Amino acid sequence: MEAIYQRGTRVTVPELQSRDQMLNILQEEEYGFLPGKPEKLSFTKEENFIQGFCAGKAACDRITAHIQLNGKPFSFPFYCVLPAKKERLPFFVHINFGPEIPHRYMPTEELVDEGFAIFSFDYNDVTRDNADFTDGLAGVIYGDDASKDGFCRKPSDPGKIALWAWAAMRVMDYAETLGDKLDFTKSVICGHSRLGKTALLCGALDERFAYVHSNDSGCSGAAITRGKMGERVRHICERFPFWFCENYQQYIDREDQMPFDQHYLLASIAPRHVLAASASEDLWADPEAEKLGIELASGVFPEGHAAHYVREGLHYFSRDDWHHLIRFVE
Ligand code: GCU
Repeated sequence: MEAIYQRGTRVTVPELQSRDQMLNILQEEEYGFLPGKPEKLSFTKEENFIQGFCAGKAACDRITAHIQLNGKPFSFPFYCVLPAKKERLPFFVHINFGPEIPHRYMPTEELVDEGFAIFSFDYNDVTRDNADFTDGLAGVIYGDDASKDGFCRKPSDPGKIALWAWAAMRVMDYAETLGDKLDFTKSVICGHSRLGKTALLCGALDERFAYVHSNDSGCSGAAITRGKMGERVRHICERFPFWFCENYQQYIDREDQMPFDQHYLLASIAPRHVLAASASEDLWADPEAEKLGIELASGVFPEGHAAHYVREGLHYFSRDDWHHLIRFVE
């Protein structure tokens, strides 16, 4: 255990381990184990889903991923915005709260003007953000064992964050089919809040992402849990037990017993890049604890690859946050 100070209070966090060990513990105890690769995967495309998008500076296609998993079919839509007539584009995979393009959390035309391609999907199209494990991808995995309520999963079976992260990997599978159109040295997985937690898990597990960005991810995201202000394991497990595996429940009011803390998630991204963003007034997420997460993980990263920053204001994925992320990637 390593002793650290969170707001002047001494807390001890488990020391970092190998990437494999940390990813194993995090899946075993917190998020649940992600499903394996799909048995079959193909894509269909509705070209120019939004006609005349951005005055023709970019094309917006709607793609459907057709998946076979555990012998069962599953599909979900996502959106692909490609600036016209350019090669080797840096790109974002943005796990979003809705299907809209642009979206209040995704200023798409500005991102196009910055030269980025953008893939995005509505997380509810993968499996809904509730305790219903019969819905979407969850239904495919849990099948007849699932129910709409009171369903008990095995202790380290995946919760919904793990399933959304898995879907983002399938979007990366599609990006790979575009070859030289994209610059894979500038591939970014990103998300806000609960989807910031999801982006961190996806980026930690999937080394194809060169950059990982969490915005205001807070508890069970970038923030160190021990000594944290605002949201605690009790709050998140009582309101959102379905985001995690069942094992996580045992740490309610027992954070000190966790064989991990959130620096494990951040350190698993090394030696690639991670940027954890906070908002100064987002005390529920706790900017100080998010900064500490990056500090505790930074020892395993090359200089400048792990960063934290605080924007003024409230919990939101704002243009300022996107611009900061763009500067980090560039
Ligand atoms: C709640 C939850 C947070 C989460 C946030 C969000 O506030 O307690 O953990 O990050 O919702 O996703 O907006």
